[in-house]
Amino acid sequence: MVEDTSIPVLFRDYQWNTLGSFINGDPDLTPPNLMIQGYSGTGKTYTIRKFMESNTDVAYAWLQPIEVVSWKPLFQAIARSTQQALMEKFPNLQKTQYDPMAVEEPSFSVRYLTNLFSHYDSLPERVPLYIIYDGFDRLQDIDSQLLYKVLKLHELLPRHSKIVLKSVFIVRDISFVQRYSTNSLPLIIFPRYSIDEITELLILSRTQELINSNFMVLQLKTMEGLVVDVDLLEKLAINFIQLIVQSFQSYTGNDIFALNDLIDFKWPQYVKNINSTNIFDPLALYRATVKVFVSTSDGLLENEEILENEDISEVNQTYELSKISKYLLIAAYFCSYIEAKYDISIFSRRTTKAATTKRKKKEQNPRFLQPSFFHIERLLAIFQSIYPIESDIPKGSLASLKSDELMRSNVEVFQNLSELFSLKLIACTTAKNLDMLGHKIKWRVNVPWEIILEIADSVNFNIADFFSDIHE
Ligand SMILES: Nc1ncnc2c1ncn2[C@@H]1O[C@H](COP(=O)(O)OP(=O)(O)OP(=O)(O)O)[C@@H](O)[C@H]1O
Ligand SMILES: [Mg+2]
Repeated sequence: MVEDTSIPVLFRDYQWNTLGSFINGDPDLTPPNLMIQGYSGTGKTYTIRKFMESNTDVAYAWLQPIEVVSWKPLFQAIARSTQQALMEKFPNLQKTQYDPMAVEEPSFSVRYLTNLFSHYDSLPERVPLYIIYDGFDRLQDIDSQLLYKVLKLHELLPRHSKIVLKSVFIVRDISFVQRYSTNSLPLIIFPRYSIDEITELLILSRTQELINSNFMVLQLKTMEGLVVDVDLLEKLAINFIQLIVQSFQSYTGNDIFALNDLIDFKWPQYVKNINSTNIFDPLALYRATVKVFVSTSDGLLENEEILENEDISEVNQTYELSKISKYLLIAAYFCSYIEAKYDISIFSRRTTKAATTKRKKKEQNPRFLQPSFFHIERLLAIFQSIYPIESDIPKGSLASLKSDELMRSNVEVFQNLSELFSLKLIACTTAKNLDMLGHKIKWRVNVPWEIILEIADSVNFNIADFFSDIHE
């Protein structure tokens, strides 16, 4: 991502104005310290940098405590950057340079700054010098005393000095601010952006960059002879950003950094699918690129690419249910579509060939009719007869006499049944005061043939066979 400096600061008018009254005011009247709090990505660094850039006459030093790690380099950084800022602001006033590395103790920095500021006593009026600590609470070895040392630094400097030291502390954590609440530091809060504000910020900051990116330029080259105006490209990129925010907001929350990363990551994949027809048809483009938005595709699996190419809907439909649920559903389907009088001949294990052939076949395929209601006992009985029990005991052995060949209706079975009900895959006659196992309630399957076929396939159960010999 490239930072574009021409973009204005949005949604931060209040913070901007408050900052203005602190920084542009009379240095004798404004407080010496200012606290700024806001969570990551709330635009603290961005807004304050912009503000400083737009007030070119203000002298300031920008420090990033996270880079200096511990307090000693922090004080050396204060020494180094104040000297640098003053020398740039008022050239030729300071004849000798001081060595910032000599500041080995917080107390040394008082002497250092006193000496440094004394060179500027010839200035006509008092001028403020701002030290901005961007991320003060992110210093590695921060302790509760460090902030006091910096807060009070200005008190130890000579009162008549023409340079007035002011500090701005940018922090993330509100509890850090509360720990020092007895100091009554003035505080500017940067609240989190709402999702609409985030969307607008992203559109503003990313659109131009996206349409001018290499991927886009190359993709446009593949559509030779096609004239595309900038408006259309802008719409395309805006649409893409909105889709990213809508699809991944539940992952990222309002984290602008994470959303920016996703935009960077997904744009090339999105652009790859653009061609000379769907570029003019947002709906077709969405259909062609929908895979980009269904997952973050940054999982740990290397072969995820392969998975992605498969039909996603099938994977979802058939693999979410447990094996028991699938058999229950198949049994429910049988109950609804096969008349009870055929049960014995179809599901009984003692069926002889003769019994099935004698039966008169129906003219109408029962699958074409409405599903009929059934009682739960029938469902459980059919389930028991179709559910395969895996046992490693060899058939005909003594142990096999004791082992159970049938799936008993246990708690697990009932749990799966209620899951099917809550998924609305099976329905029942009463919705109120539901006693799932009550004998008065009648049930009905709520799944069409195509889906039951898929479910049966996923457990290698040949459901079509059961229907083949009961109708013409
Ligand atoms: N008000 C805004 N107007 C325009 N762009 C913004 C605004 N706020 C944030 N941004 C964008 O969001 C990015 C992140 O903001 P920024 O770096 O200021 O966050 P931060 O509050 O300093 O977070 P951290 O605590 O992690 O340092 C910026 O680079 C900028 O592109
Ligand atoms: Mg920042």
